[in-house]
Amino acid sequence: MTSAVTTRAPSQPGEQPPPAHALRVTVAEVVAETEDACSLVLQPEPADVHRFAYRPGQFLTLRVPTPDGGWTARCYSLASSPDTGEPLKVTVKRTAGGLGSNWICDEVSPGTRLDVLRPGGTFTPPSLDEDLVLFAAGSGVTPVMSILKSALRAGTGRVALVYANRDERSVIFGDELRELARDHPDRLHVVHLLESLQGLPSEPVLRALAGEFAARRAFVCGPEPFMETVGAALRSLRVPPERVHVERYTSLTGDPFAAPEPPDPDESDDGQDAATVHVTLDGETRTVRWPAGARLLDVLLAAGLDAPFSCREGACSACACRVLEGEVEMAHNEVLEREDLEEGYVLGCQSTARTPEVAVTYDE
Ligand code: FES
Repeated sequence: MTSAVTTRAPSQPGEQPPPAHALRVTVAEVVAETEDACSLVLQPEPADVHRFAYRPGQFLTLRVPTPDGGWTARCYSLASSPDTGEPLKVTVKRTAGGLGSNWICDEVSPGTRLDVLRPGGTFTPPSLDEDLVLFAAGSGVTPVMSILKSALRAGTGRVALVYANRDERSVIFGDELRELARDHPDRLHVVHLLESLQGLPSEPVLRALAGEFAARRAFVCGPEPFMETVGAALRSLRVPPERVHVERYTSLTGDPFAAPEPPDPDESDDGQDAATVHVTLDGETRTVRWPAGARLLDVLLAAGLDAPFSCREGACSACACRVLEGEVEMAHNEVLEREDLEEGYVLGCQSTARTPEVAVTYDE
């Protein structure tokens, strides 16, 4: 996933203390994946390691400078798996004129210090033990790779990957996939589609490939036309929508690194309308007063909880949590799909309380 926002920058990354709620990481290694894609291996500060707990398929938000002295924020999916013991790694592919991706690929080197936000996102399997079919195109393979490695290492199901690229040289993680296929011949099946040989993947081609795996849960990430074509193929195979997960690329307009605003003191909150929310986060449950009209994320941050977020506009899913009890209302949602809502996911940055007692978890 990738998305962007811009504000003024007082200095280069790493020169000032990190903004509130941001975390500082050091780039341990830059890996040239292809001609136009690189991976950053990131080392958190020792005291912050627990705040980087993540699920396969999630993303990090990075703060990067722009040439005019501003900041731009980009969300990049983690290619690493939380189940293999490997360090945190995000993979970045250059986009034409892309400030963040070109700065990262040209200027970042081992030792560069970056400010990031906690991992977030809902593009993650509910179970690693069920069979999966993964569809990726180009750098869309990044979160898919994380899911694939977690499923093979920590799960028991079989995994099929349908991976589309322009040509052989643009295949990211080619060697790693070959090695994984060699190590898991009975569980991993990889199909490469190269535009240089077969043309753009069409719906009939994808339908024919997906037909064999139509009973599996599907994950789809890549350029919008690719995701639409895969979606059409899966619909024609009658794969239920709740078993199809897509990672959408969004453009953000706010500044996720700006200091969070205090909760909106809603006029109707005379103290009697406030709800109570029980929040499970990082293995601990806390109870917090939730003023009427206030957004859940603001309430939690004001209470000193380390709740994850990125865009704060309902567009990225970094703040997603699951409602276990009670009801909330979302003001805006651009990113959660029907199946996410059915599983009880809501966006903390957009949620207000609708019942006096609410329980949510960020840990599932
Ligand atoms: S922080 Fe992005 S949707 Fe809430």
